[in-house]
Amino acid sequence: MDQQMIRIVPIGINVVMSIFTFFLTARLIPSLKETFITANLYGQDMSKRDREKKIPEALGVVCGCTFLITMFLFIPVPFSDHILKNAEFPHNEFVELLAALLSICCMVLLGFADDVLDLRWRHKLLLPTVASLPLLMVYYVNFNSTTIIVPKPLRYLLGFSVNLGILYYVYMGMLAVFCTNAINILAGVNGLEVGQSLVIASSILVFNMLELFGNMWKAHLFSIYFMVPYIATSLALLKHNWYPSRVFVGDTFCYFSGMTFAVVGIIGHFSKTTLLFFIPQILNFLYSVPQLFKLVPCPRHRLPRYNPKTDKLNPSVTIFKKSELNILARLVMWIFRTFKVVDWQEDSEGMVTCNNLTIINFVLIKLGPLREPTLTTILLIIQYQIVSNDERLLRTLLAFVIRYPLASVFYDV
Ligand code: UD1
Ligand code: MG
Repeated sequence: MDQQMIRIVPIGINVVMSIFTFFLTARLIPSLKETFITANLYGQDMSKRDREKKIPEALGVVCGCTFLITMFLFIPVPFSDHILKNAEFPHNEFVELLAALLSICCMVLLGFADDVLDLRWRHKLLLPTVASLPLLMVYYVNFNSTTIIVPKPLRYLLGFSVNLGILYYVYMGMLAVFCTNAINILAGVNGLEVGQSLVIASSILVFNMLELFGNMWKAHLFSIYFMVPYIATSLALLKHNWYPSRVFVGDTFCYFSGMTFAVVGIIGHFSKTTLLFFIPQILNFLYSVPQLFKLVPCPRHRLPRYNPKTDKLNPSVTIFKKSELNILARLVMWIFRTFKVVDWQEDSEGMVTCNNLTIINFVLIKLGPLREPTLTTILLIIQYQIVSNDERLLRTLLAFVIRYPLASVFYDV
């Protein structure tokens, strides 16, 4: 096969299989709803008038399974040429694919365990680390390249390149923890978990397609194999999770998504680009830090407060005594107030009412109460806008800056 066909034929097969998977998943999800409810896997939609209705939860596991089945069936395809010719089998690429699937499979299992057992926060940090180990092992065996090129202005301090050694592995493990949890904490309105994941996945896919005929084409081809079926299964889930949700995705889905993005980023050597697509999640994480680290009280749920009279969502709040805040908490909240990013109300007795620190509530503070689907749409548009600007930024960077003029400021070209 010539070089172009080697890239295009497996993608074609992957796309056809993904279309089939989309229809399968879209039919499977509603047919399994009752089974999930019988197994006590359900929640209540807190932003609806009828809160008694049982909404099956953790349907992300269906998505994860159909994704994995598609990928398992797809395994021989990229290697068919080698298998038929019976020569030069690329064992290292093969093991990468298997390890990537093992990590995702592990994450779906652990995510589902979390949904069933309702694990604590510390477990949520541990699980993705454990699941990323097979992948890191393969990275060690196949690449073990932990050297990064230092930008020029820092070279007099650090030299031309730095070998991060074990730290690089810590970084990759943390990437998996970040990607999984960042999606999970930007949640609580119908369709948002899947919606944001789809925006990220399609951005990664576009980026891979732009780079498919560049030097690193193998890595990008590898990522495309994962992104297309991922998008297909998630679209099927979104169909049932969009307002008004008939199913909830569960933490399984957030773990599954985050891990898939981390896997392609690590094996494809574009983890920094992956992080660019996570900018809204990074902002949400930074904004959440005071609550995540318990500087300010963090209720079990931070999703917006529903007003049944208007059928709109208002920012949800946390209430505490100002005197209970420690000095660091006061400093951070003072900064937030100075930049007017929180709605802070204080009464004469020192009781403070502050919005829960998520960008979902932030949008509601700035725009006023919104209907749920409007809020989800706005948040997805923000994600898309930021990411597509990244994309434009990236393309420009790749085409002009990194390779040509400005790059000489930072790197030798
Ligand atoms: C994370 C958030 C939490 C948020 C929750 C909503 C942090 C630290 N944690 O917790 O603040 O409230 O996600 O998913 O930021 N639900 C809805 N509508 C939806 C989606 C979920 O009402 O569109 C409710 C349902 O009752 C569902 C529950 O949220 O059963 C799922 O919450 P879960 O995913 O278990 O919460 P966490 O991920 O722990
Ligand atoms: Mg969750």
